Amino acid sequence: MRKPLLEVKDLQIKFETKRGTIAVSDGVSFAIGENETLCLVGESGCGKSVVAVSIMGLLPAHARVAGEIRYREADLLQCSPGEWSRFRGREIAMIFEQPMSCLNPVISAGRQIAEAYAANNRCSKREALAEARRKLDEVGIPENCFVKFPHELSGGMQQRVMIAIALACRPNLLIADEPTAALDVTVQCQILELLHCLKDRYRMSMLLITHDLGVVAEMADTVGVMYAGTMMELSGVEDFFYRPGHPYSRALMNVVAGNALSPIRGSVPHLLEPVPGCPFHARCVDAVEQCRRARPQPRIVNGRMERCHHFTGDNSGRQLDQMVSSR
Ligand SMILES: Nc1ncnc2c1ncn2[C@@H]1O[C@H](COP(=O)(O)OP(=O)(O)OP(=O)(O)O)[C@@H](O)[C@H]1O
Ligand SMILES: [Mg+2]
Repeated sequence: MRKPLLEVKDLQIKFETKRGTIAVSDGVSFAIGENETLCLVGESGCGKSVVAVSIMGLLPAHARVAGEIRYREADLLQCSPGEWSRFRGREIAMIFEQPMSCLNPVISAGRQIAEAYAANNRCSKREALAEARRKLDEVGIPENCFVKFPHELSGGMQQRVMIAIALACRPNLLIADEPTAALDVTVQCQILELLHCLKDRYRMSMLLITHDLGVVAEMADTVGVMYAGTMMELSGVEDFFYRPGHPYSRALMNVVAGNALSPIRGSVPHLLEPVPGCPFHARCVDAVEQCRRARPQPRIVNGRMERCHHFTGDNSGRQLDQMVSSR
């Protein structure tokens, strides 16, 4: 098997806060191959963004991190801040939900892209500006927007500028944290199509965080389902949709299928007070005594990973029936 581009192994992230220690990532593991897209899903507060930011090496100082984040041959967690910064932009880039919080309000769109390019390439100012014009064109921004300031652009155009900045140095891995959540539906589609197309053109790998399972169906090769800082399931996209495994994955799908009568009852446990047993047991329709007592360990069967005491690897019959009957 070819080595993956990014491999996250047993990632533990804890925040020391005044109220105690919060375990935000509790042994999260996944891998992303060349030109592959992994989508991370899960309810709010489950730790998706923190895991993404940890790959960029941008966690705040009060975070304690252990495990491995391996990018090609490098174990990023063993790198000095200076070494890690050399991966940012050039190898791994990130875009966020709110482009305005990342764009500089007093620098024109074109100049911001040129600066991102010049920061990682030896080039003259003129070359950087020419490259910025090419990038603007590539992300579908009209030429006259080159001199515009971020506040003069629509949300969709601002996100295109962010994408152009992220791609300025031709990264191999693009991390996108809910890149379309703040946009209206039509613009969401355009931005996703753009990401899809640029990913293929540059043969990039992508870690995409989204709440939208429609986006997952369009974009993912692999799906990771996070719950309360734990990776509950990691499956190929077809297994995830056609043979949904973990009860939490099925519950998420039920909600998305518009079954308003069956939202997931209860709420995500607070990460300050880790629950015994399976983190999902209090909300799980299939929970038995073992789920309340023992934490399920990750098990891998037929290429999919699940943390569930019920997991046998054969999720086909019973669970598909349940999906259908609950719609
Ligand atoms: N800098 C921080 N200091 C302390 N706790 C933090 C910090 N950043 C995030 N957290 C906590 O970590 C947990 C996970 O947050 P995270 O933002 O990763 O969730 P998420 O899955 O991305 O949620 P959403 O879908 O709403 O974006 C939350 O409980 C959050 O309060
Ligand atoms: Mg988030």
